[in-house]
Amino acid sequence: MRTVFITGVSRGLGAALFEQVIAGGNRVVGIGRTFTGAQDDLALQEPARVALLTSNLGDTSTLPTAAELRAAFAPEGEVVLIHNAGVVTPVGPVGSLPPEELAASITVNLTSAMLLSNAFVAAASGRPARILFVSSGAAGRPIAHWSAYSAAKRGGDWFAEVLAAEAERREPPMVVASVNPGVMDTDMQAALRDSEFPARDRYVGLHERGELPDPASVAERILREHLTNE
Ligand SMILES: NC(=O)c1ccc[n+]([C@@H]2O[C@H](COP(=O)([O-])OP(=O)(O)OC[C@H]3O[C@@H](n4cnc5c(N)ncnc54)[C@H](OP(=O)(O)O)[C@@H]3O)[C@@H](O)[C@H]2O)c1
Repeated sequence: MRTVFITGVSRGLGAALFEQVIAGGNRVVGIGRTFTGAQDDLALQEPARVALLTSNLGDTSTLPTAAELRAAFAPEGEVVLIHNAGVVTPVGPVGSLPPEELAASITVNLTSAMLLSNAFVAAASGRPARILFVSSGAAGRPIAHWSAYSAAKRGGDWFAEVLAAEAERREPPMVVASVNPGVMDTDMQAALRDSEFPARDRYVGLHERGELPDPASVAERILREHLTNE
């Protein structure tokens, strides 16, 4: 049975991925600081299929270790890590950003993903493995007032590139990919509409015209493209 670790499963894209990965017959391990009541119930009722590891990605001392990740693996099969958790705040011009929020953005969006990857690769030794980074269009083009988020996402993309180069020589194989989900109707978009930035009208318009895709449809596409059973 394949084991799929997903960060940030309490809402948005992560919650949709969590649901669909279980429905696909895989073991799922949620990593995050909060879980839904339904997720807590599933972990209690079906421990072979669902586990939850409590960790605040803003505090790297709470991240699961390699041994803790390994203890959550199904006895055999591919092991997968999906870096989904993220925060878009702080949004604002450089010079105005609250230092603690700026540092927290890099910790959640980049440092924790790197540390978790490091632990996961060690834990996955001898097992076929896959790591997927949920990126953003902001990693590839500058959006004024999104400096922290954009820099962290671009850093994650480049970390994934280096990891992919290392993975080429790994036996058994490890696949590393970065995926841009595109805009989605989640709390992150609501946070953007509540912020001030030059391109804000575009995002308000997408919401008003009902053009923000449902995260469930985005999760379905990501899993079809990156987690097929072949
Ligand atoms: N929404 C978009 O339009 C869009 C576009 C491009 C890329 N993305 C990317 O897609 C991914 C999912 O975004 P989303 O829109 O689904 O976001 P969301 O609805 O805001 O959900 C974010 C998830 O990350 C978790 N998280 C945040 N801070 C955390 C922390 N310190 N420790 C542990 N978990 C934490 C949240 O958990 P809590 O409930 O505990 O806060 C939540 O489960 C992100 O990587 C985002 O950058 C989103």
